[in-house]
Amino acid sequence: MTPTPETLSLIQPDDWHLHVRDGDALTSVVPATAGQFGRAVIMPNLRPPVTTAEAALAYRDRIMAAVPEGVRFEPLMTLYLTDRTRAEDIARAKDAGVVAVKLYPAGATTHSDAGVTDLRHARPALEAMQRVGMPLLMHGEVTDAEVDVFDREAVFIERHLHTLRGDFPALPMVLEHITTAEAAQWVAQAPGPTAATITAHHLLYNRGALFVGGLRPHWYCLPVLKRERHRQALVAAATSGNPRYFLGTDSAPHPAHLKEHAAACAGCYTAPQAMALYAQAFEDAGALHRLEGFASCHGPDFYGLPRNAATLTLVRQAQQVPESYPLGAHHIKPLVAGQTLRWRVA
Ligand code: DOR
Ligand code: ZN
Repeated sequence: MTPTPETLSLIQPDDWHLHVRDGDALTSVVPATAGQFGRAVIMPNLRPPVTTAEAALAYRDRIMAAVPEGVRFEPLMTLYLTDRTRAEDIARAKDAGVVAVKLYPAGATTHSDAGVTDLRHARPALEAMQRVGMPLLMHGEVTDAEVDVFDREAVFIERHLHTLRGDFPALPMVLEHITTAEAAQWVAQAPGPTAATITAHHLLYNRGALFVGGLRPHWYCLPVLKRERHRQALVAAATSGNPRYFLGTDSAPHPAHLKEHAAACAGCYTAPQAMALYAQAFEDAGALHRLEGFASCHGPDFYGLPRNAATLTLVRQAQQVPESYPLGAHHIKPLVAGQTLRWRVA
């Protein structure tokens, strides 16, 4: 047995799925990510959503303005797919350096009301993306009220993914924040350029975490946490070394008063502890040696971008997580508020 390392140096990781919001909230949360990650794929679900190259570039400037002095961080911008996204919108986004397009089925999650109501409407955009090799990032859940909320990812795969993969064989596709054994398996076996991001919270927790000692809104996200057998399938996928799986925190900041609410917002705020949480999950699986591939190599390789030149060092040293952070005029609670984590960033 090799001894547990006290420090772990990695090629600097990237976050391939991140929400940073806008305005004061953006200013509050961007430093947490920029302190660990070289780049992050920025989700476009603002109000109004980021649907044009111009909006993406303006948003990028606002994010850059929130990066602390002397820190190198690159936001990778995405476009929000709607029923009306045209092939020209895709071409312009590509020229502007937008890296990907995000599919929210209308009504699936936070700020998804402008999303796609029927995938047939998205075909011209998907054809244009396939032509230029621009990845489609998918929130993979059906929205039908009749489908049990815990089954919506598996049903999305059955109803839409097999067809979509067959219809657009060369389109790079990323199934985001996968939560089920079915999703992990689909990603492993699908033909064509296919990948998935996996969050730290879906690696560390099953749906029981939503009910420990009472209803726990900070553990509520979409897709919702699933049974233990699914968590185990995700851990197996993330630690397998398969380059189709990579890191995406889906850190989704909401002010504490909207999380601790009768209709709590979906989203876990994990950005400040992201690498510590992933290190814990990989260590628990006896797979710390696989963390660098997952966090730092598979993502850039899939997107056709260089791996980061910098490194990030994690130290095996207990850290106490703060109870809350300022979020503009409000405050925000990190997912693991008050807990002690085993790892911290050096
Ligand atoms: O839990 C979630 N929060 N899931 C999503 O898909 C969106 C995100 C958000 O924007 O808050
Ligand atoms: Zn997300």
